[in-house]
Amino acid sequence: MVDGEVQVLKKMGWNRSCWLAILLQFFLLAQCAVHRRQRIHKNSTSDDENYYPPVQLHLLEDHVVLDNGILNVTLSTPGGMITGIEYNGIDNLLEYEYKENNRGYWDLVWSKPDHQADVFDKLEGTDVYVITEEDNQVELSFVRTWDSSSDTGLPLNIDKRFVMLRGCSGFYSYAIFERLEGWPDVNISQGRIVFKLQHNLFQYMAVSDDRQRIMPTTHDREKGLVLDYPEAVFLTNPDNSFLRGEVDDKYQYSSDNKDSRVHGWICTDPATGFWVITPSNEFKTGGPVKQDLTSHAGPISLSMFFSTHYAGLPLIIEFRDGEPWKKVFGPVYMYLNSVLPDEDPLTLWADAKEQMLLETEKWPYDFPLSDDFPYADQRGTVTGRLLVRDNYINERLITANGAYIGLAPSGDPGFWQRENKGYQFWTESNALGYFVIKNIRAGNYSLYAWVPGFIGDYKYNIQITVLPGSKIRLRTLVYDPPRNGPTLWEIDIPDRTASEFFVPDPNPMLMNQLYVSQPDKFRQYGLWDRYTDLYPEDLVYTIESSIYQTDWYFAHVNRKVDNKTYVPTTWKIVFDLTYVDELSNYTLQLALASANEAELQVRINDETTEVPHFTTGLIGRDNAIARHGIHGLYWLYSVDVPGSLLVTSTNTIFLTQSRGLSPWRGIMYDYIRLEGPSSNNQTQKHK
Ligand SMILES: *[C@@H]1O[C@H](CO)[C@@H](O)[C@H](O)[C@H]1NC(C)=O
Ligand SMILES: *[C@@H]1O[C@H](CO)[C@@H](O)[C@H](O)[C@H]1NC(C)=O
Ligand SMILES: *[C@@H]1O[C@H](CO)[C@@H](O)[C@H](O)[C@H]1NC(C)=O
Ligand SMILES: *[C@@H]1O[C@H](CO)[C@@H](O)[C@H](O)[C@H]1NC(C)=O
Repeated sequence: MVDGEVQVLKKMGWNRSCWLAILLQFFLLAQCAVHRRQRIHKNSTSDDENYYPPVQLHLLEDHVVLDNGILNVTLSTPGGMITGIEYNGIDNLLEYEYKENNRGYWDLVWSKPDHQADVFDKLEGTDVYVITEEDNQVELSFVRTWDSSSDTGLPLNIDKRFVMLRGCSGFYSYAIFERLEGWPDVNISQGRIVFKLQHNLFQYMAVSDDRQRIMPTTHDREKGLVLDYPEAVFLTNPDNSFLRGEVDDKYQYSSDNKDSRVHGWICTDPATGFWVITPSNEFKTGGPVKQDLTSHAGPISLSMFFSTHYAGLPLIIEFRDGEPWKKVFGPVYMYLNSVLPDEDPLTLWADAKEQMLLETEKWPYDFPLSDDFPYADQRGTVTGRLLVRDNYINERLITANGAYIGLAPSGDPGFWQRENKGYQFWTESNALGYFVIKNIRAGNYSLYAWVPGFIGDYKYNIQITVLPGSKIRLRTLVYDPPRNGPTLWEIDIPDRTASEFFVPDPNPMLMNQLYVSQPDKFRQYGLWDRYTDLYPEDLVYTIESSIYQTDWYFAHVNRKVDNKTYVPTTWKIVFDLTYVDELSNYTLQLALASANEAELQVRINDETTEVPHFTTGLIGRDNAIARHGIHGLYWLYSVDVPGSLLVTSTNTIFLTQSRGLSPWRGIMYDYIRLEGPSSNNQTQKHK
């Protein structure tokens, strides 16, 4: 009977019909998993598969069309630009007014190390291969091979893959980038897929449960007033008049990679969703708290694989001395959904989240046909338990609840946040500190961790070699976070963000209404100047009486003077000591959540010393202040403070961010602690 139904559907021209596409989608969730689990069986007799028409590949003169009856995707040949996506009665979800190479594409930004100019490269293929053309799967490969006899162009072989599966309401894309030994030096600073949707259709954007709204258009932005940099625009005369007077900036919609598994756009008529789903972050650089762009006004949806956003130079992929490299990025899933006209289009977000969970469960996918993508049986597992030893908090070992634990290429503790060439595999420990890292590609790794509530970075001192099918059970791991003595006082809790500190309301003239009543207030534009408005005197924090949630400004920024220039500021921490051990060192633990072209100087009880007691030197280019982040890269300094500098009355620690001139130079603190001399020292002294 099922076969008969499909016949009827076909006669009715169902693939253009919104109604029946929806009917099919109803079956889709139940059936999709079955199809994907099976490897291409051309002559499969399974009844299930006949619910859906086979995937078809249409070769046109300079285009190719992938069609599974639910949607079809048109790509240029041999370039591999996505020129059209037809779905739910919409001829093209992409902005067909744009040129064919400017609608949906992969791109890289690269430069030769001796040329400052960046090349924006859309990776146009020169050859196209049909990897498979089966009823259940069509996979295409668009290839560009570097010509090693020339010294021009990006020294990288490109293989862009597009996959359509039978019965699935979307398509997959991944890419393999490779360079061979001896190829020229190059810097690669960004890699992504871009989708530019039809602006007449897509106006509602969703990047998380809390962050969704009707967005301004590109035209609205063009009519607006550019603020302090081109990405930030004041909307003076938008088509939707309720957006008038708001600020739009794509960086207001960034997310940590760990929180950026699905985002996209909703069209209300016909009710249609376009979503970018990232089923794994193994191929992203910089670890789980690396932040990046998601979707933004355009309407645009991105899949950002790597970039320098919120991190700076360390995240540039730098090849020197002929270093060879190969890496697979993706697959990511472009998922389309729809509801009936009388249903609420906003439910498409909930459905997209469901689909994200389904895709995540299916990871690693079993269909990509590149030999460079290992399936589940070729991957390994690492399990273990992490405990924390901090005798000043608890004489017994403490379970690392909710610790972030990951495998990444070997380096120093904390290297993972700057790591940009390999794969990373992260998990979180449970309440008892147990963890399981699954689906690890074969290779050599270090195991890294950090534990909310404790400062610093853990690294297991033994290299871990994962072989296909490995099941590695580690002994109990113990992290000794930096600590030299008992806590005399502390400010905030260590979690690598400044989010618990005081975040002001924005200038009422420069609001994004989305963030008005939200924990994400820090995403408002222009908060760097609010310090000048709200702190006519620089910040003074009195340990006895101040409250970090209301009294400690979330970013140590410069002060704006005479409406034109920015000058450094000095913050003070004031505290009393009733006893000082003049012969021992105290320790100031300074954990920073961000630094941008900044220098933090520390002076103890004397603000006037020309040479500070301690300085970080010039650090950081994560640009988190300008990009409305609440953190960038993490920095930890353990500063010795000789007891001889302290007094048995009121003490002041002066924190100077000494680099002025720009509103965006500064730091964010994560956590600050003053420790007394170690009790060992005291015991020794008393002996
Ligand atoms: C290349 O990358 C390195 C950092 O990895 C950076 O120091 C250098 O300035 C970059 N060169 C160019 C031309 O971007
Ligand atoms: C892993 O390390 C071992 C020993 O250090 C080495 O022999 C092996 O080649 C490495 N494997 C990979 C995949 O790099
Ligand atoms: C700074 O600029 C604002 C707005 O343009 C203006 O109202 C204010 O008077 C100026 N202040 C000074 C000190 O020039
Ligand atoms: C205190 O720290 C300084 C600087 O790190 C070091 O040179 C000195 O030896 C330390 N003093 C004691 C008593 O540990």
